[in-house]
Amino acid sequence: MRLLLLTHAFNCLTQRLWVELTESGYTVSVEFDINDAVTREAVAWFQPDAIIAPFLKRAIPQDVWRQIPCLVIHPGIVGDRGPSALDWAVLNNECRWGVTCLQANAEMDAGDIWAWAEFDMREAAKSSLYRHEVTEAAVITVRQALERMQSGSFRPRPLNYGDPEVRGQWRPRIRSRDRRIDWTTDTSAFVLRKIRSADGQPGVVDELFGEPVRLFDAWREDDLRGSPGALIARRHGALCRATVDGAVWIGQVKRNNAMGAGRLKLPATLAFADSVADLPDMAEQRTSDAPHETFREIRYWENAQVGYLEFRFYNGAMSVDQCERLLRAYETARSRPVRVLVLLGGPDFWSNGMHLNVIEAAHSPADESWRTINAIDDLAREIITTTDRVTVAALRGNAGGGGVFLALAADRVVARAGVVLNPHYKNMGNLYGSEYWTYLLPKRVGAERAKTLTENRLPISARRAAKIGLIDRVMSADAVSFVPAVEAWAENIAERENFDDIIRAKHEQRRRDESLTPLAGYREAELDQMKLNFYGFDPSYHVARYNFVFRVPHSRTPLHLAPHRRKQRES
Ligand code: COA
Repeated sequence: MRLLLLTHAFNCLTQRLWVELTESGYTVSVEFDINDAVTREAVAWFQPDAIIAPFLKRAIPQDVWRQIPCLVIHPGIVGDRGPSALDWAVLNNECRWGVTCLQANAEMDAGDIWAWAEFDMREAAKSSLYRHEVTEAAVITVRQALERMQSGSFRPRPLNYGDPEVRGQWRPRIRSRDRRIDWTTDTSAFVLRKIRSADGQPGVVDELFGEPVRLFDAWREDDLRGSPGALIARRHGALCRATVDGAVWIGQVKRNNAMGAGRLKLPATLAFADSVADLPDMAEQRTSDAPHETFREIRYWENAQVGYLEFRFYNGAMSVDQCERLLRAYETARSRPVRVLVLLGGPDFWSNGMHLNVIEAAHSPADESWRTINAIDDLAREIITTTDRVTVAALRGNAGGGGVFLALAADRVVARAGVVLNPHYKNMGNLYGSEYWTYLLPKRVGAERAKTLTENRLPISARRAAKIGLIDRVMSADAVSFVPAVEAWAENIAERENFDDIIRAKHEQRRRDESLTPLAGYREAELDQMKLNFYGFDPSYHVARYNFVFRVPHSRTPLHLAPHRRKQRES
């Protein structure tokens, strides 16, 4: 079957479908939903058997859905309709939610139903539910719908609100006031739910330091107290604000009225750097493994000779400050008497490399880029040169750009089956990249494949990555059961009878590699190229970064995603 993915952006769900469907043998092409004429052109050139719409913000043109079956992925249970499905589900504290795959027709989300899947809700942000439960359910429904379509005998089910299985309803677009926080009455649980229902976009409208803002990245605080609504503390990037029954941390904010890059989503204490100085700094407190909830990006714990280092950086983006703190935590973990050290990243992303928003907001983005890549390289070097224990990168969530290569610095790389990797830098304005990738990548996949991966700029599934040796192992587990599965596997390594031999071999390998080409040589060569990206004549990296952080809409689908356009151009 020829499948056209018609989408607003090549987002995580679209990427996941793309890898799943291409790896299953479908012929897949992508077209961004830019305008109706462009969609018609793509249909004419690609001649798809079906269109799949994983993420659309506009209706599909009538002549297109009349001509070709168009399967729309709606992130809601059967019968749910409207543009804010998941926002309402989080805000209304639904216990179960789902994904419905329906055929586009003249009415929004009211077409015949090809397949659906349900899941239990977690206490998590909308974006996290989207990246995990919604994405997994969407893959199931699309596969089922395509099988049913190919069978030829299946009739999709018309939406019938009289059917007891149809539990959903039409819900309007959510408005700012539907989740506005009243700091004088709302409990912490309600504040968390409101902010989570709007994370990662569009955020909850509120005020900070007398300025209109949007809030993101909320964390529960169990100990601190204050008068409701008062800002009571800061820690690293986050601000703590009291509620009627406790407090919450706010990790990220957007200042609506700020100029230029000040308008971006930024760590809260960076966005209000001038205003937060008088708040008590809780940086060094409560960062140990205490049993209560608080804002803690980096956490370390041990069990059965295995150490676990978790780093929950928002969106997997790593600033200089975050890299330096992680490096310090890594050095401390390295001094502990454990045999295996597992780098857990965060639940949604392992890492997406340099923090592009913080870079954009810096006085000199070029200098900040330089500082950031050096901070990540310092961390990567520390991991690569750890020869007295086994290091493991365990990917619960996706990784992109330098984040993938940072993971390769560990001896073993394991990933959850649904993880998608983007092991390339070029989409960011032909960025060359560092993180010792010129050492780490060919070592795992060979020079030729390293070239293909970095040049093609395409996502790759964890399964495929394991097949080509980019990673070592895939674990079929969901977001929650992945960590226990990794624990069991890591403990098994720590208990191996030949553990000392493993360490000796690792030490010897590193010594040999270093004598062939010193790590410093790889770094220097990579950073020479990065210097050109940051400070050179060609501004592509700065332009691409600006477009990425300000979400400048696409004006065309890149040819590496749209082979139908490539063929058309060649003919
Ligand atoms: N710096 C800052 N923010 C980043 C980021 C980075 N390196 N990578 C991702 N994000 C943010 C996005 O802006 C988005 O923000 P939002 O919450 O405000 O919407 C969020 O993370 C999710 O990213 P998105 O692009 O929507 O996720 P995706 O799953 O569709 O795509 C990637 C994943 C990795 C392909 C894509 O995010 C990407 O290309 N990131 C940049 C990677 C990179 O070039 N890093 C720098 C070189 S090391």
